Amino acid sequence: MSTPIGGRVGEPAQGGPFNLSEFEAIAREKLPHASYEYFAGGAGDELTLRENRLAFERISMVPRVLRGGRERSSATTVLGVPVNFPALVAPIAYQQVADPDGELATARAVAGAGTAMCLSSLSTKSLEDVAEASGPARPLFFQLYAYRDRGLTDEIVLRAQEAGFKALFVTVDVAVHGRREREYRNEFVLPDDCQLPCVPVPAEHDGPLSPHEVTGLMQPDLNWDDIERFIALSDMPVVIKGVLSAEDARIAAGLGVSGVVVSNHGGRQLDTAVATIDVVAEIADAVGDQLEVLLDGGVRRGSDVVKAVALGARAVLLARPVVWALAADGQAGVELALSLLEAEINDTLALCGCATLDEATPDLLRRAAP
Ligand code: FNR
Ligand code: LAC
Repeated sequence: MSTPIGGRVGEPAQGGPFNLSEFEAIAREKLPHASYEYFAGGAGDELTLRENRLAFERISMVPRVLRGGRERSSATTVLGVPVNFPALVAPIAYQQVADPDGELATARAVAGAGTAMCLSSLSTKSLEDVAEASGPARPLFFQLYAYRDRGLTDEIVLRAQEAGFKALFVTVDVAVHGRREREYRNEFVLPDDCQLPCVPVPAEHDGPLSPHEVTGLMQPDLNWDDIERFIALSDMPVVIKGVLSAEDARIAAGLGVSGVVVSNHGGRQLDTAVATIDVVAEIADAVGDQLEVLLDGGVRRGSDVVKAVALGARAVLLARPVVWALAADGQAGVELALSLLEAEINDTLALCGCATLDEATPDLLRRAAP
């Protein structure tokens, strides 16, 4: 493992970055402006982008004390995959825009950290190469965008299963491309050298692709019948990513879905969608005994992770902090970011008097009025 920025893995290095958010400033310096804006941006007025973060900050913690003397662990499993801590890497498109090794670097760092990664359909590296980079001991999840071409979509699902991916995350909150004005203002398009091995780009398409055009290749009328089709198509458990309604979670559970990601796509799709930490408890109460509830959106600190777990999430996923770390220092950057997060999770559990994640329960939390 190459030396991360400034110092030893896991401890705040001399001169930083000292936490996940500090990678952003480094990434902003290193990335072309339009690329930074694509990664950072949200939809519309970016209210949900901000609220994802503010909602976590409105939750205070009430620690318990004098509960020492027990062996502490933040380990758990997600969809049967053991992870050292309840934080996964979310699907992130076009990672080669952040670092030449893109998804390969991220997968290697995730494998070294002992957690899991959900590979985006919009990966710039082939799913087989990412699986090889991750290694046989560290299985991956695959995030699917269903394309208009159903045959091609099914082929990609079966390729992922063949390559050893352990679950299929179907993203369901992209009926249309979110109105990300930073993308339009900067006219962001994918660099010429970016390949998209899992995207059926029409042969006749000439010139660079914009994220909006890629979304235009996706099936616009995704519905519950498609979810049933994906459940029947492969042996991989199916997770639905982009659920914010407890009623949708109940329908998913009734169909035999194995998990949901409570997600608003990081505020990049429907602006003014509710912050995920504000609805995860309702969804966990509704279906937490039937499927695994995951959460993403605005997770930046170990305390955010423990708050989400206390409210019923099995684990969280992070996107922007990972892409900032990737842009800042490639695989070493992601390694450092994940080790800082793991340290923060363990510190939070210790300071709350929790020996394991099971002990992180709602009574640890107090929610301020918005
Ligand atoms: C994403 N997200 C995303 N989701 C998905 O299902 N497929 C994808 O390809 C992508 N690509 C992507 C790129 C970038 C740059 C971002 C910021 C986000 C959404 C992502 O998986 C996740 O839902 C949210 O981004 C999580 O919020 P945070 O951690 O970014 O605050
Ligand atoms: C995004 C798409 C690729 O959020 O999911 O940019």
